[in-house]
Amino acid sequence: MKKILDLISEEMMQAFEQAGYERTLGRVTLSNRPDLCEYQCNGAMAGAKQYKKAPIMIANDVAAKLSGSAVFEKAEAVAPGFLNLTLNREFVGSYIREMRADQKYGLEKTQNPAKIVIDYGGPNVAKPLHVGHLRSAIIGESVKRIARYMGHTVVGDIHLGDWGQPMGLIMNELRRRKPELVYFDENYTGAYPEEPPFTISELEEIYPFASKCAKEDEAYRADAMACTYKLQSGVPGYRALWNHIIAVSVTDLKKNYERLNVEFDLWNGESAVHDRIPGMVEAMKEGGYAYVSEGALVVDVKEESDTKEIPPCMILKSDGAALYNTTDLATILMRMESEKPDRIVYVVDKRQELYFEQVFRCARKTKLVRGDTELKFLGFGTMNGKDGKPFKTREGGVMRLENLIQEINDEMFRKIQESRETSDKEARATAQVVGLAALKYGDLSNQASKDYIFDIDRFTSSEGDTGPYILYTIVRIKSILAKYTENGGDVQAVVSDIKAPVNDSEKLLMMELAKYNASVEAACAEYAPHKICAYIYDLANAFNHFYHETKIVAEEDESKKAGWIALLALTRDVLETAIDLLGFSAPERM
Ligand code: ARG
Repeated sequence: MKKILDLISEEMMQAFEQAGYERTLGRVTLSNRPDLCEYQCNGAMAGAKQYKKAPIMIANDVAAKLSGSAVFEKAEAVAPGFLNLTLNREFVGSYIREMRADQKYGLEKTQNPAKIVIDYGGPNVAKPLHVGHLRSAIIGESVKRIARYMGHTVVGDIHLGDWGQPMGLIMNELRRRKPELVYFDENYTGAYPEEPPFTISELEEIYPFASKCAKEDEAYRADAMACTYKLQSGVPGYRALWNHIIAVSVTDLKKNYERLNVEFDLWNGESAVHDRIPGMVEAMKEGGYAYVSEGALVVDVKEESDTKEIPPCMILKSDGAALYNTTDLATILMRMESEKPDRIVYVVDKRQELYFEQVFRCARKTKLVRGDTELKFLGFGTMNGKDGKPFKTREGGVMRLENLIQEINDEMFRKIQESRETSDKEARATAQVVGLAALKYGDLSNQASKDYIFDIDRFTSSEGDTGPYILYTIVRIKSILAKYTENGGDVQAVVSDIKAPVNDSEKLLMMELAKYNASVEAACAEYAPHKICAYIYDLANAFNHFYHETKIVAEEDESKKAGWIALLALTRDVLETAIDLLGFSAPERM
């Protein structure tokens, strides 16, 4: 379906043309004086010079052509030359009726479907998830869902941190604690045990401990590096132990991501490309891209137009070891082979922006990607505490994601119990659903690149621009529909009965609904879930305003009532589809 703004502009352009002016002057925008009109056109002002006429004269000519318009109820020329526009009620009603009949509520799938890989999540094996990983998961999941809904083919890859130094640290510490384990016996030739020699909590305790030891003790650090080397060079006991670490850790990660309603198609880790690194490095040398500088192997990536210094991309350290970027480059190589994407999108902390600039330039220069492959860095800002500093626990430590979710759920539980009588069990279940919405909406409603303040009290509030407010609105609609059914009505039988709006608040609600296709399209094109949040917030406000002004269930004119029920059902469907794009859902009751 055409966007409502395009239909309106089309009508206006035609009027400009009929009045003898250039079509393109007829572009319409939302009114910036909603108290005076719904839409406006400033084309007469823009055309004054070209036609050597007072703008008001042009505006008058155009308004005269619109007197019988089916789109505008009122098209008024006002000094000094604006066209103030009010939409025709029948036109609005029929647009909404058409929206109802369309499977995607008027949204057209993209004309250019692309294959997109989204790299998000990025947790590190054996380290607990923390709030930094939360943003990547929440934003990446939504960007993925939106792109998919628009008709792109999207693959989400978690890109696990499962290789390199942290692994060596863990293994070294394990060896110190349990030297008798068969994994460390290099003469052992039998099969390795199926049961892992540790639990997830042991693993999570070992890593920070080992990391601290390595910082304080050089010999310890050297031992850990030797372990990393053994793992990477394929010593069987170390590989077997590593497999246990991955399995235990991934089981735990899956549980955590599931709780967040986040799903990855690929669980590839940095380790998946280890074997490709030597070949890739060779090709970079042969191609004349990589050269040795101060012992390290580097590729220059600066460009003439740079205004700040972009350092070379380091491929191998002087000891021959691969780096974080070597892995990212090899991962690009692998993705280009296995997924053949048109685009790769990275949802990563914006402090890694320069790093990714180097990686992208290096990938282009060394021809790991096609000339038309788009590499996109979607950097997100920091989640801060109320003090404006990166969010910490009360004790000042890094906040574990699990604990953060628990805090939100507990607060939600408290608020639910405060507001109505319900069993603990039901309130707990509802608190989980609403808590997730509070958390995700609190994050997604901000432009991703901006920092934001994590404020439990505000996020869980049922008023204002929050997840719970959106859910309350949906639940309110559901309960009115349920009442209609209880009174003998059949919602399904009337869903298409949308009529022209009878009052202003109903018309406003319809005009908000009508912005659906434009909002989702913009959110996809700009990787901007916050545009969907803004859309549903305006929609929820418009609905609640309508609801307070209109006695729906008590209406005696059955046909009028059916029209409203149909409008409610559409509002519910649109809101529920939109929150699914954001990655959360609504309960039946709250
Ligand atoms: N594991 C990294 C971290 O915790 C994030 C990975 C981001 N993705 C990437 N392709 N480098 O900081």
